[in-house]
Amino acid sequence: MSQETKIASHFEQLYGYPPAVIARAPGRVEFIGNHTDYNGGAVLGAGIDRHVWVATGRGEPGKFRFSSDQKAEVHTLPAGTTAKQTGALAWLNYPLGVWVSLGKAGVQRPAEFDLLVHSDLPGGAGLSSSAALENASALALAKLAGLPTIPPQRLAEIGRDAENNFVGVPCGILDQGTSAFAQRDHLVCIDCAGPRFSTTPMPPGLRLWVFNSLTKHALIDGMYAKRHAECQEAAKALGVKFLALLTPAEFHARKAALAPLLAKRAEHIVEEHARVGKVVSALAAGNIAEVGRLMTASHRSSQHLFENSAPELDFLVDQLTAVPGVFGARLTGGGFGGAVLALTRADFNEDAARDVAAAYQKKYGRSPEILPLQTADGARVLG
Ligand code: GLA
Repeated sequence: MSQETKIASHFEQLYGYPPAVIARAPGRVEFIGNHTDYNGGAVLGAGIDRHVWVATGRGEPGKFRFSSDQKAEVHTLPAGTTAKQTGALAWLNYPLGVWVSLGKAGVQRPAEFDLLVHSDLPGGAGLSSSAALENASALALAKLAGLPTIPPQRLAEIGRDAENNFVGVPCGILDQGTSAFAQRDHLVCIDCAGPRFSTTPMPPGLRLWVFNSLTKHALIDGMYAKRHAECQEAAKALGVKFLALLTPAEFHARKAALAPLLAKRAEHIVEEHARVGKVVSALAAGNIAEVGRLMTASHRSSQHLFENSAPELDFLVDQLTAVPGVFGARLTGGGFGGAVLALTRADFNEDAARDVAAAYQKKYGRSPEILPLQTADGARVLG
């Protein structure tokens, strides 16, 4: 049974009528460009064949109702609620925040709705399940109110507004932008200073693997916000709006103006932005060995300069990069736990992945989740 059929029949079982709209949005991997987005830099991402589905219908007057494949119950809030939810209801903040942001953006939205979420995208792995939920919710709710679709840049901006101003995470545009603009067999290139979005083909014969360490720093959102604040402080001290506006040569000539900790954070951003440009050139030249080398260099910079890695992620990168057929490996997403992305030749297969998992199991006493991934198309309304 397809996910679309599954969510439609689950919706009918819960709410007593078939959904009017189903929308779907992919998760994403951050290919390279770590914490460059909110620093006005460049980043490459890809949509992945793990998705969030949102089904919706006009429910009962005066009610917002929510449910998901993770929870047995239906939560009801008064229609028009704009209060942030807490505890077990915190996940409602994504669709609710999107409903608020649709209103702020002047986009049609329903006065009441029933909503159901299904997902095959692991949460907390750094694969942007929240952005996928935001994008799918925005498309589904706008369609329910009569708007056939939302152009991808507008969609990404609505999702990001919900995340920044309702959920309260000061993220950049990478997650929502990649999920909105994704294209099968392509990477999404974002120049975040614009922002400007484009795509570039993924060379054939490569594979993407994610190893989810299943570890998560307890203070992950606080750590992310701390890095964001450190970058802003460094930019201010260097007299630039965004750190990524400095070339590595300009930065190194001026870095003595920064305290040592801020200098490390800023060096990561400036060099990482430059690495994204080098990856774009190496991809165009078909030099995949260089792409992989730059991906691993990105990880080492996260590990030592930005300090947003974790021992488990470093271990996975060490193991992976020692295997023939792996071009490069790096943490993907915000960091402080989560997942490692590996770019491999086609002959890096399930057996090779299991060997890496076995080494991890031996060291940490548990197995990482292994996800062989395909690139996928962006968020869309299905019906
Ligand atoms: C998270 C954020 C993104 C980006 C990455 C790090 O995924 O949501 O905006 O900052 O971390 O590159």
